[in-house]
Amino acid sequence: MLELISGLHTPNFDTREEKIDYLQTEVFRKDKHARDAVIPLMNGGMSVDITGTRFVEAMAAENLIGVYGASLPGWRDIQEFEKGLSISERKELTRQANKKAIESASSFFRERCNNAIVGANLLRILKDYEGTREDLIKSGQFDILFVGAGLPDDLPERMAQDDCKNMFYVPIVSSATVAKFIRRKKRELGKAGKKYRQPDAIYLELPNEAGGHLGAKNIEQAQDDSLWDPVKICDEIWKVFPNTPIIIAGGIGYKDQIIHAYDIANGASMGTRFLLTQESGMPNNIIEEKYLNKNIPVVVDEMSSTGYASRRLDIPVTERTEASIREAIRNCVSCVCGNKNECKYLLQANKIDPDYPNYCIRRELIKTRNGIATVCFTGRQIEKFRYNKLYRGKNGELYVPTVKETIEFLLSNNSVDSK
Ligand SMILES: Cc1cc2nc3c(=O)[nH]c(=O)nc-3n(C[C@H](O)[C@H](O)[C@H](O)COP(=O)(O)O)c2cc1C
Repeated sequence: MLELISGLHTPNFDTREEKIDYLQTEVFRKDKHARDAVIPLMNGGMSVDITGTRFVEAMAAENLIGVYGASLPGWRDIQEFEKGLSISERKELTRQANKKAIESASSFFRERCNNAIVGANLLRILKDYEGTREDLIKSGQFDILFVGAGLPDDLPERMAQDDCKNMFYVPIVSSATVAKFIRRKKRELGKAGKKYRQPDAIYLELPNEAGGHLGAKNIEQAQDDSLWDPVKICDEIWKVFPNTPIIIAGGIGYKDQIIHAYDIANGASMGTRFLLTQESGMPNNIIEEKYLNKNIPVVVDEMSSTGYASRRLDIPVTERTEASIREAIRNCVSCVCGNKNECKYLLQANKIDPDYPNYCIRRELIKTRNGIATVCFTGRQIEKFRYNKLYRGKNGELYVPTVKETIEFLLSNNSVDSK
């Protein structure tokens, strides 16, 4: 077990070439030993700006894989637009803001992270998906691209291009369905005389545990533990991609859970555990008053404008008035109207009806990021985490730990004995 714990950290690399070589030969190997690979511990990418540059730097300092939340990275510059701009002008400003943010994050990692392994997480459903994806590729600073919330139908072809040869790609899935879809692409692309590249790993996010948007069809499925047996799902994925490592996410936050993930697969990733840190972009006041508040339950609903079921703290979303709806429409950048999706908020907001159920994801996540708690995504285990001594200061007061303290805690405490 001690051996396992040390295998969870990345080595130090003197050069980028050394790092790529390690990733190719040890982590994302494609031979018959691929299923024995140990992928260093990582965080799940969290947007908007929850796993930002400061967070990734803290993961790098601990020799773990830091994953940058690359969905709407330019959020700061596009919180409120001047009156009178057209939707296409707002979209263009969003494009420019995202581009600038990726460039600035890349410079930060180049200067501060010393050849650490850095990933980026991007939602497929975003209107600016393609633009951001290209920025990430062009920067040459991101080693692994994680794509979820939608079928990454573009990646088998795009990642087969020469400019992506030093970037690894990992679809985020909840079952073998997406894996089967990607494999089908091989035939399709082959027939069209195009190149195909298989995923370097699969990120299996379990909907019954994970935070944020979930890969379940509806609320009931997302809460039905019997549907999400990770051993069974890994086996199904390996039937599709036999020599591909799998990273498990959802419901991991203690040593025994990490060990279990490495027993059945090749890697473990955590969202909620890392959200509750000083370096995450989640403001400390929200962590203390909401996440660590024992009176706030967890809910799964379908109110996100993405249309996906999602898990969050059960606190009220911004008050809906005619004025707030008009304000959301005025600042809309069509953020989730990409790749055949439509915004569930806009569909109803256009009727200016304060009784409709959905919320504008862009507006609410930015509000939360600015310290006004509305939509607070969380994994199911938050209800256990709150009792951990990790979140108490010397006198029993609430405390937000650093990434370093969090890692020390989770590598030495089991879920059963960690009150
Ligand atoms: C606040 C929050 C924001 C998240 N944002 C994203 C995101 O932008 N993209 C994504 O693929 N997953 C996102 N997730 C999911 C995490 O990356 C991670 O896979 C998941 O939370 C793992 O489950 P856990 O919270 O039980 O550890 C988010 C989760 C949370 C709690």
